[in-house]
Amino acid sequence: MVCRRIRAEDFRNIAECDIGFSDGINIIYGKNAQGKTNLLEAVCLFSLGKSFRGVKENEFIRFERPATSLGMDYFSAGRDQNIKLMFSRSHKRVIEKNGVGIQRMSELIGSFRAVLFFPEHLNIIKEGPSMRRSYLDVAISQLRPFYLKTLQQYNHILSQRNKLIKNAPSDRKSFDTTVEFWSYQLAQKAAYITQTRINYLEAVSAEVKRCFAEMTGEKEVPDLCYSCCFKIDEHLLSDRERLAETYFSQLMSNHDREIAFGATVWGTHKDDIDIDLNGKSARIYASQGQQRSLALSMKLAEGSISKKDTGEEPVLLLDDVFSELDASRREYLTEKMKNGQVIMTACGGIDPGKTGAKVIFAEDGRFSEQGSYTLTEIVPG
Ligand SMILES: Nc1ncnc2c1ncn2[C@@H]1O[C@H](COP(=O)(O)OP(=O)(O)O)[C@@H](O)[C@H]1O
Ligand SMILES: [Mg+2]
Repeated sequence: MVCRRIRAEDFRNIAECDIGFSDGINIIYGKNAQGKTNLLEAVCLFSLGKSFRGVKENEFIRFERPATSLGMDYFSAGRDQNIKLMFSRSHKRVIEKNGVGIQRMSELIGSFRAVLFFPEHLNIIKEGPSMRRSYLDVAISQLRPFYLKTLQQYNHILSQRNKLIKNAPSDRKSFDTTVEFWSYQLAQKAAYITQTRINYLEAVSAEVKRCFAEMTGEKEVPDLCYSCCFKIDEHLLSDRERLAETYFSQLMSNHDREIAFGATVWGTHKDDIDIDLNGKSARIYASQGQQRSLALSMKLAEGSISKKDTGEEPVLLLDDVFSELDASRREYLTEKMKNGQVIMTACGGIDPGKTGAKVIFAEDGRFSEQGSYTLTEIVPG
């Protein structure tokens, strides 16, 4: 997978740009607030179908401008392909892949596959469960369009069920007559989501073990394991029908508690990943350095699983990650970066050199390509 070019017009502080990338390492380099992350956000939009900053489309249209348009040429599945996007303040949008119009952004996901890594990801071990769920959801969605679809259906059913719960104190009758229907629907989707996450996480756990051993060279063994929000017998996890039945009976018990809480208490929107190091919770006992190594391994695992699944190395997008890592982790990451295309931002630490990475200078929303640098110069010893 290679991002060959990106064009953007009126995207954040970028009035206009047309940038070619090399199929190796690309560094978007410049001082603060010049538009480096904005450019990376634009690239990322093609893979996530939304901003990694979690903002609405209107926010990335350039101030005072009516619309933004973006285009990407990329190489995948043995051929050159392209995607065009246009978003306007009046909510008009155009999505086109290889010249064919597409209705929803979610239908694009999986076309241009990338692994995004930014400094907040380094906190994945100690942050709340939503970041860990989102790690799974983003990674799996790029590989399984059906998973993304099911996730969207789940969220829709969940919001219907939550509405019902919220209205229950004043309208208990509607609740009593329809709760079974919504609980059944939710349980069906939950069973599929849980199983898919568990399968994916098994692959992640194996990769993380391997990476972690390579990186730290220590005798510590990490283990990642799916954690349901209520106790489920292990033997039920592999049987989708019985898993759905278990979710259903959980959702049909304790309605008073859900009504008091005002929302659905059980489901995959409450699940988590347990991350252990030598059998102890990494969140509680691991040092900051160990937590960072685990986080880095999880990101690299995402890349290797994508490669195994699709036969193509995904593009690695790094926003200011290097400055957050110490020398040994930088070195390890640099080694891994040799496998595929990397687009990263940096605001210091490189000197002009000979060959290697392509450097793109960012200044006030404009970008200029200025020669190549050696990798060792990006990553000082
Ligand atoms: N919608 C927008 N229109 C114009 N400028 C924007 C918009 N959103 C953000 N910016 C500007 O982009 C700049 C930050 O760019 P960013 O890519 O985050 O910087 P950095 O180079 O440090 O990564 C800020 O000056 C901010 O005001
Ligand atoms: Mg930035």
